[in-house]
Amino acid sequence: MAKVQESSIYEALSTVMEPDLKKDLVTLAMVEDIEIDSENNVSFSVVLTTPACPMKEQIKNACIEAIRQHVPEAAGVRVNMKSKVTSSCGHHHCDHDRPLKNVKNIIAVASGKGGVGKSTFAANLAVSLAKTGAKVGLLDADLYGPSIPTMFGLQDAKPEVTDKKIIPLEKFGVKLMSIGFLVDNETAVIWRGPMASSAIKQFINDVEWNELDYLIFDMPPGTGDIQITLAQTLPISGAVIVTTPQDVALADVSKAVSMFRRVNIPILGLLENMSYYELPDGTRDYIFGHHGGEIFAKAQGMAFLGSVPIQRNIREGGDEGVPYVIGHPDSPASKAINNAAMEVARRVSITNAGLDAEQ
Ligand SMILES: Nc1ncnc2c1ncn2[C@@H]1O[C@H](COP(=O)(O)OP(=O)(O)O)[C@@H](O)[C@H]1O
Ligand SMILES: [Mg+2]
Repeated sequence: MAKVQESSIYEALSTVMEPDLKKDLVTLAMVEDIEIDSENNVSFSVVLTTPACPMKEQIKNACIEAIRQHVPEAAGVRVNMKSKVTSSCGHHHCDHDRPLKNVKNIIAVASGKGGVGKSTFAANLAVSLAKTGAKVGLLDADLYGPSIPTMFGLQDAKPEVTDKKIIPLEKFGVKLMSIGFLVDNETAVIWRGPMASSAIKQFINDVEWNELDYLIFDMPPGTGDIQITLAQTLPISGAVIVTTPQDVALADVSKAVSMFRRVNIPILGLLENMSYYELPDGTRDYIFGHHGGEIFAKAQGMAFLGSVPIQRNIREGGDEGVPYVIGHPDSPASKAINNAAMEVARRVSITNAGLDAEQ
C-alpha cells in the first residue's frame, strides 16, 4: 500500500476552515507535528488561538473528515488539539515599550454603575478561563470597593514585594492582585482624589505578572476620568460590559459603551447578570424584565454573551471566597458563565487576527 505523504496531509487540511478567522488551517499555520507511522496511521497537532475555543470539537471533527476524504490511504487519524494564545500586541498597541508586555491580552470588565455583579463575573470569568488551561491573572482596581480579596477568601493575605515588584497571590489557578491587598479602606479613600488614575497606573505597572494569556481587569465602575485614563493608557484587547436587565435602560451603560468606542477598544460583548430568578418548580421569574440585555446589545451592535440568573449560591460563593464556577461547576448557571468565558476568549482571538469581533 502506498505510503501517506506529508504533503497530502497538508493538502487535506488546507480544505478545513477556521470558522472565526475565515482562513484554512494551513494558511493560518495551525498544523504542527505531523507524523505518519509504518502502518499509515496519521497524527498531527492543531494549534488553536485559545484553549477556551468553543469550536474545538467542530474543528477536530472537520480535520478527521478531511483526512478521510482526501487521504483514503490513511489507516487511522489522531488529532491533538493544542493552543497558543495570540496577543493583542500586533494589531493594537504594537509598541514594544508598552506596559505589561508579558501579558498577551488585557480584558476589561466594566459596568455603568456598581452593584451589578461586575466583580462576581470578573472573578468567575478568570477562574473559568484558567480551568481551560490558560494562564490567567485578575486585577481589581476598584477603589470604591475592592471585592476580589473576599471573593477569593484572601482577606488577610499580603502579597510579597521583591525588587520593588509586587508578587501576585494565587488561588484557584488565577494570579490575583487587588488594591485591597495593599491598602485598607481608609487609605483607598485618599487614593480616590485627582491622583487616582496615576496611582492605579503605577500600581498596575508594579505587579510582576510574568507571562499571562489573559489579564482580567475588574475596572472601577462608571465612566469618569479614572476609567477614561485607564482605557486610554492600558493596552486593553477588549471590554466586556456587565449589566442587570434593569440597568440596561440607564444611560450609564450606553456611556460605558461609548467610552470604549471612543478610545477604539472593541466591545467583546454584554453579559446580563441577575437576569431572572428560578422558582422551585423551574419556572423563571424575570424580575427586571425579559431579554432587556439582549435587545440592548443588538441595538448597540454588540455581541450578547448570555444571561446569569440571580441565585443565592452565587452571592454566597462570593462572600465565602469560592467563586461559583468552582463551587458548583456543573450547574446551569456555571454553564452559562463558562460559555460566556469561551465567547470572550473567542472574540479576543478574532480581534487579534485583525477581524471585527463586535456584532
Ligand atoms: N447572579 C447573582 N446572583 C446573586 N447574587 C449576585 C449575583 N451577581 C452578583 N451578586 C451579588 O451582588 C453583590 C454585588 O456584586 P458585585 O460583583 O460585587 O458587583 P459590582 O462589582 O458590580 O459592584 C454581591 O454581593 C454579589 O455576591
Ligand atoms: Mg466590584
